[in-house]
Amino acid sequence: MPHEPAPSPRILLLGAEPRAVGLIELYRLVGHPDVVLADRRPERAGGDLNGHRVLNFDGIALDRLEATIVTEDPIGEYAEPIAFLRNKGLSPAQVITCAEPGRAHRTLTGLVPASEERSRQIGYRAVRQNLFHRGHYAYCMVLAAETALRMSLSKVTIVEFGVWYGAGLNNLCEIADFLQQTLGVEFRIFGFDTGAGLPEVADWRDHPELWGSGTLAMPNFEELATQLPPNCRLIIGDCKNTLAPFLREHGSAEAPIGFVSLDVDQYHSSVSALRLFEAEATHLAPVIPVWVDDSYLNVLQTSYAGEGLAIREFNERHPLRKIEQKIIRTDDFPRLWHHCIYFAHVFDHPVRQGKVPARFDQFYHTNY
Ligand SMILES: C[S@@+](CC[C@H](N)C(=O)[O-])C[C@H]1O[C@@H](n2cnc3c(N)ncnc32)[C@H](O)[C@@H]1O
Repeated sequence: MPHEPAPSPRILLLGAEPRAVGLIELYRLVGHPDVVLADRRPERAGGDLNGHRVLNFDGIALDRLEATIVTEDPIGEYAEPIAFLRNKGLSPAQVITCAEPGRAHRTLTGLVPASEERSRQIGYRAVRQNLFHRGHYAYCMVLAAETALRMSLSKVTIVEFGVWYGAGLNNLCEIADFLQQTLGVEFRIFGFDTGAGLPEVADWRDHPELWGSGTLAMPNFEELATQLPPNCRLIIGDCKNTLAPFLREHGSAEAPIGFVSLDVDQYHSSVSALRLFEAEATHLAPVIPVWVDDSYLNVLQTSYAGEGLAIREFNERHPLRKIEQKIIRTDDFPRLWHHCIYFAHVFDHPVRQGKVPARFDQFYHTNY
């Protein structure tokens, strides 16, 4: 019997698991002859997933290959297949991971073009189905975009407090690219970091049992800064000092702050970061999802120390600005991160004072 020739796809999906199924359905790739699905586990080979035979990653011809999309998370599991494919001539630019939804979308719609309306559906549904890495950032970003659209704005600002080596910030940039392509909203992204790691632990409120002064230092500021797209900037220095000049320079009613990630770990840094919510009301969205990284997952985290205490004290000081936890996606498969999202309510915002019309009365829910 002559051997069947090795399949020669244009796009290779790596990881025969639910994310790949989701992408195949959402991008209408079922049975597409130019798409091949492969896995790192030999025992998966020969199975069928949505009209795609699962192959071994070493059984594929690369002569027509435009891109491979690693759909499995954690991405590190695919180090061996990626190295194998790289040895066979695949360039780094041809490898896309599930932390890169912007690149993935561009590639997949290059194969199967999507109308504006389809693209919009893909934007919302990919986030809802957790098809990409860091579902919690994607959730908050889609909500920031949705809030802007309901206010007839086309631009929104995102802030990450605590960048470290930039995994989260790079991911934010990719999600922004994805949502700009799908929902048509533009993003400005700012990452705040000391550059030198965690500041001095002052007292028990900074969780000395968890965090050491000087740990989590940014390995290479210049390298990270050059990797970032033009709509993203690093603001280096203690946010105690950098936030006020930032708000003066970048505060904008045309691109209000629509999502904040609070990931500076300690109480004193969190107090400084939360001053962002003292900005002029129109420079903030009327409601802002806040990712509170240290709120729920660790037994030691509480509203009496660390980020939680900073939030509680902020609320005590501000009658018209309140930051409150909300458990989201209660109709979904339960995930721990559904408990780590807070919302900053800006009650003195013109929208929440009833002075500016916006479309918040229509099904603006927590289950995006
Ligand atoms: C856990 S890391 C951030 C990780 C990042 N958000 C991610 O998901 O990839 C926390 C970072 O906060 C930064 N940081 C802590 N206190 C700060 C402050 N007062 N001002 C600016 N950055 C601060 C530290 O330098 C550290 O790298």
